[in-house]
Amino acid sequence: MIDRIAEILKQVNDVVFEKENNAESFRLLYLSKKGIITQLFDKFKTIPNDQKKLVGAQLNVLKQRAEEIHQQQKELEDNSIQANLKREDSSLPVYQEGPGSYHPLRIVEDRLLEIFFSLGFDLAEGPEIEDDKHNFASLNFAEDHPARDMQDTFFIAEHVLRTHTSSVQIREMEKGKLPLRLVMPGRVYRNEAVSARSNCFFHQIEGLYIDKGVSFADLKQTLYYFVQQFFGEGTKVRFRSSYFPFTEPSAEMDIWAGLETEENRRLTKGTGWLEVLGCGMVHPNVLDACHIDSSEYTGFAFGMGIDRITMLKYGINDIRDLFVNDKRLLSQFSGV
Ligand code: DAH
Repeated sequence: MIDRIAEILKQVNDVVFEKENNAESFRLLYLSKKGIITQLFDKFKTIPNDQKKLVGAQLNVLKQRAEEIHQQQKELEDNSIQANLKREDSSLPVYQEGPGSYHPLRIVEDRLLEIFFSLGFDLAEGPEIEDDKHNFASLNFAEDHPARDMQDTFFIAEHVLRTHTSSVQIREMEKGKLPLRLVMPGRVYRNEAVSARSNCFFHQIEGLYIDKGVSFADLKQTLYYFVQQFFGEGTKVRFRSSYFPFTEPSAEMDIWAGLETEENRRLTKGTGWLEVLGCGMVHPNVLDACHIDSSEYTGFAFGMGIDRITMLKYGINDIRDLFVNDKRLLSQFSGV
């Protein structure tokens, strides 16, 4: 037994610690419940009494030495963990992300606001969770009118997710302050299948101008100015008559994209014209619903999809690309 103890003592003294966590494997091998030294102590109980004093002393030396080594190694490892942590805090290389960029939708919305602000329009915003009154009823969508089917609606109990920013017109007109000259951007929702062309949420910007003597000529002039500013000087515009419950007369405005390229023919379905927005003179029923005297005041309104014109402006073909935040797309807009 004495020899065996001496052998283990030598082993213990000769242990070379290399990798981390050696303290723990050392402890398991020698000092744990089933470790070599613990087993020697068990064996110690069975040796003749006259040997006990000597062997016991040796055993204690071995155990002490092993504990000492274990303790030293543990401290060493703890220190190196601490040192690593400190190093990670202060001197690891930083992420090389480069500067961030504005999202194309933000760039376009900011530009739209800038153009309309320069014409004297102010900003207004409204809630995304709406009631039937503001999203439909006050906008002259009759209870059973098929026009409600124009916009597939998400319902939340008694409420709806607004299907258009036209609801904000109602909220602003209800406030009773006139004249009004507002642009109202925001997110809208439609219960539609998601595809390259349509998403279940997107963004619109609404315009509203109410005053005495506002005419269709004012509407055309305002939109004409906007198109020149946004799409470029000399861009051709046309108005097609259309239908919306909340405007009368109603129109859709197209810009001339041309038929020169394959892309233009595809985007314009062979017509050369691109639809940009809906507009019209505010329907007297809408003014009445908001307690505005329709014999005294008139107004125009327009609404357009921010996503749509962002796609047109930057040649983005899939609306979903606007919502995945892929850095390969976004980084193309840094510095824009
Ligand atoms: N709210 C309409 C839509 O979402 C767009 C629109 C058309 C808004 C005509 C208007 C307008 O203000 O006058 O399809």
